[in-house]
Amino acid sequence: MNKLLIEGGSRIGGTVRIAGAKNAALPILAATILAPGEHRIGNVPDLLDISSMLSLLGRIGCPSLLGSTLRLDTKRIVFCEAPYDLVRKMRASVLALGPLLARMGEAHVSLPGGCAIGVRPIDQHLKGLEAMGCRFELKAGYVHGWTDGLRGARIHLDVPTVTGTENILMAATLARGHTTIDNAAREPEIVDLACFLRSLGARIRGEGTQRIEVDGVETLSSSSRTFHVMPDRIEAGTYLVAAAITRGNVTITNVVPQHMQAILDALRQAGSHLEIADDSITLSHRGPVQPIDLVTSPYPGFPTDMQAQFMALLTLARGTSRITETIFENRFMHAAEFLRLGADLEISGNRVKINGVRELFGASLMATDLRASAGLVLAALASRGRSEVLRLYHLDRGYEKLVEKLQSLGARLRMVESENHSHHEQEPMVVNA
Ligand code: EPZ
Repeated sequence: MNKLLIEGGSRIGGTVRIAGAKNAALPILAATILAPGEHRIGNVPDLLDISSMLSLLGRIGCPSLLGSTLRLDTKRIVFCEAPYDLVRKMRASVLALGPLLARMGEAHVSLPGGCAIGVRPIDQHLKGLEAMGCRFELKAGYVHGWTDGLRGARIHLDVPTVTGTENILMAATLARGHTTIDNAAREPEIVDLACFLRSLGARIRGEGTQRIEVDGVETLSSSSRTFHVMPDRIEAGTYLVAAAITRGNVTITNVVPQHMQAILDALRQAGSHLEIADDSITLSHRGPVQPIDLVTSPYPGFPTDMQAQFMALLTLARGTSRITETIFENRFMHAAEFLRLGADLEISGNRVKINGVRELFGASLMATDLRASAGLVLAALASRGRSEVLRLYHLDRGYEKLVEKLQSLGARLRMVESENHSHHEQEPMVVNA
């Protein structure tokens, strides 16, 4: 098992190109199931989660070729199962549920189960699909679904679930009649999915708002044009925080600033200086980090996927900050790791009070979930001395070439083979999406 050695203290500076969005590419890959044919998708990030989704598609009969443009052939589907050995590695496999039911009339998807950041139920996914005429049986850790044909329905989600909205939206494109999804999630990744579905012939309105309307069509077919996945707003935000926490100066390119308003506002409040162009952002941070209060909430609010990164930044603020996590019930594991670096944090329920300290000191750290591991790397970059981060597969799942990109920005870090292979480094049962 590898570990990351980080020598803290260097300012990061330079330019980095942001990759395609993992959380747009995953539903878009699942959506190709709906449309028999050869699909060409560009700007797909080179991540473990993407290869897991391609393995799942391969398993059901859809071969793919990953190059600068991903080619995917979904003419034939021979299995309707997303097996446990794949789903346990990536919860987003649940995104195969809606498309398989819509195309094949059945689906057998291993229940993703809980993960490091919470229980992660899929009750809203099932509620919406049942309203469209699916029936489900939960047995032996699998959700088995069947339908004699999907029909349009009026669905109101109890929570604006991102993948729940995506599963229901994908199924609705092939349902007979009109579907309305109320209290839908509004994330930009859902808008990107809707644009992809429209390129296959789907008829959708209202994506990005709380009400999405779909007129089902008989069939969908692959487009002759290459679809390019939107940039990853969380990767982009992570590099901006890296510049702020090291008092550096970084330009990120191939980004959509409009997707990042809440992140950019928080950075400004924390004292960063931002220059914003059409598809690039430059951040410089001189002087102290100002303390701020953050509450995570569904888009367009402050994203939960940026919470750990900002906690790292605020451990060094000049004053007291507060972070409230409203999306997941257990997304503060990184706080315990920051304490090992000398941070001064008080956790109570879903709130953390952060008393800024003057300096952090390198230590051994353990990553727990995808975004938390990025937060640990940022804190280590700003700590005095050497840190090591264990359980790095979390990083590889969500950040394309993180080490190389940070090295190109002047950070001093390298991957090394870690000597001990003790049991605790085994890959956990399930990691979050
Ligand atoms: C998506 O997860 C993202 N993953 C997550 O990113 C992200 O953190 C999350 O949305 C919130 O923005 C992908 O898009 C692949 P939710 P998802 O369903 O869809 C509850 C990353 O790091 N809920 O919006 O699983 C749920 O428990 C990952 O890339 C139900 O109660 O999140 C949670 O409290 C981590 N019933 C809240 O809704 C359901 O049926 C939001 O979850 C579904 C969800």
